[in-house]
Amino acid sequence: MGVRGKVAIVTGASRGIGRAVAERLGRDGAKVVVHYQHNKEAAEQVVSIIAQAGGEAVSVSGDVAVAGDIRALYEVARTQFGAVDIVVNNAGTVVGGPVEYISEEDFDRVIAVNLRSVFVSAQEAARHLSDGGRIINISARTPVAAVAMLGVYGATKAGVDVLTRSLAHQFGPRNITVNAVAPGPTDTDLLAPDARANLDAITGQTPLRRLGQPADVAAVVAFLAGPDAAWVTGQTIYADGGIL
Ligand SMILES: NC(=O)c1ccc[n+]([C@@H]2O[C@H](COP(=O)([O-])OP(=O)(O)OC[C@H]3O[C@@H](n4cnc5c(N)ncnc54)[C@H](OP(=O)(O)O)[C@@H]3O)[C@@H](O)[C@H]2O)c1
Repeated sequence: MGVRGKVAIVTGASRGIGRAVAERLGRDGAKVVVHYQHNKEAAEQVVSIIAQAGGEAVSVSGDVAVAGDIRALYEVARTQFGAVDIVVNNAGTVVGGPVEYISEEDFDRVIAVNLRSVFVSAQEAARHLSDGGRIINISARTPVAAVAMLGVYGATKAGVDVLTRSLAHQFGPRNITVNAVAPGPTDTDLLAPDARANLDAITGQTPLRRLGQPADVAAVVAFLAGPDAAWVTGQTIYADGGIL
C-alpha cells in the first residue's frame, strides 16, 4: 500500500467526506490524526474503526478558523507519530443565500474556515511537512459552476484552487505535491436541504445518475496521497460524477 506508515492529518474527519478520507487512509495503512470541531464521539468512532482495521489513529479537536488550533494539530501529529507526511485540508462550512442577507460576520467566518485555514495549514506545512509529502485541499465545483446563492462559498473555494496552484510551485522543489479535490453534491450533512429535497434534479444532471458518496471523494484523495500521483501537482481534480 502506497501510504503505509505515512502520517496523515485530516481536518473535519468526524463526519462526511473527511471521515471517509480518514477511514480510507487508515485502512490503507497510514497513521491518522482525526481532527474534528465539536463531535468528539463521532471522531472517537473513526479512531476505533481505524484501530479495528489494524491501523493507528488519534483524535484532536479544534477550530480551523483559529491559527493556534491548526498549529496544535501539526504538533500532535509530530509528538504522537513523529512526522507529518500527508495533510488533507477538508473542514469546511457553507454560507448561502442572497448577498443582502449574508452578514459581514458570516462572510468573514466562511473565509476563515474555508480559505484562511488552508493558508495557515500551508504555513505549518512549510515548517513541518516531510519532503516528498502531500497537501490535498478539498475544494468544490462552485468556482466553475456559478451556483445561485453560493457566490460567497464559491469565492472561498476559488481562493483554495488558486492557493493550491501557487503552493504547488513553492513546495515542488521539496518533492511535495499540492492538489485540490473538488466534489460535486455529496451525501453529507453539508448538502443543502433544498438540494436534498430535489435529488432527482441533481442525479438527472449527472451522467452516472446518482448522488456522490463520501467514499467516492476519498478514493480520489487516496490516489493523490499515494506514490502513483507523484507527477500530479497544482491540479484541481473534479470528483463530481461529471455533473453539468
Ligand atoms: N457535501 C458536499 O456536497 C460538498 C460539495 C463540495 C465540496 N464539499 C467540501 O467538502 C468538505 C467536507 O464537507 P462535508 O460535506 O463532508 O461536511 P460535513 O459533513 O458538514 O462535515 C464537516 C466536518 O468539518 C468539521 N468542521 C466544520 N467546521 C469546522 C471548523 N470551523 N473547524 C474544524 N472542523 C470543522 C466538522 O466537525 P464536527 O463533526 O465536530 O462538527 C465535520 O467533521 C468541505 O470543505 C466542503 O466545502 C462538500
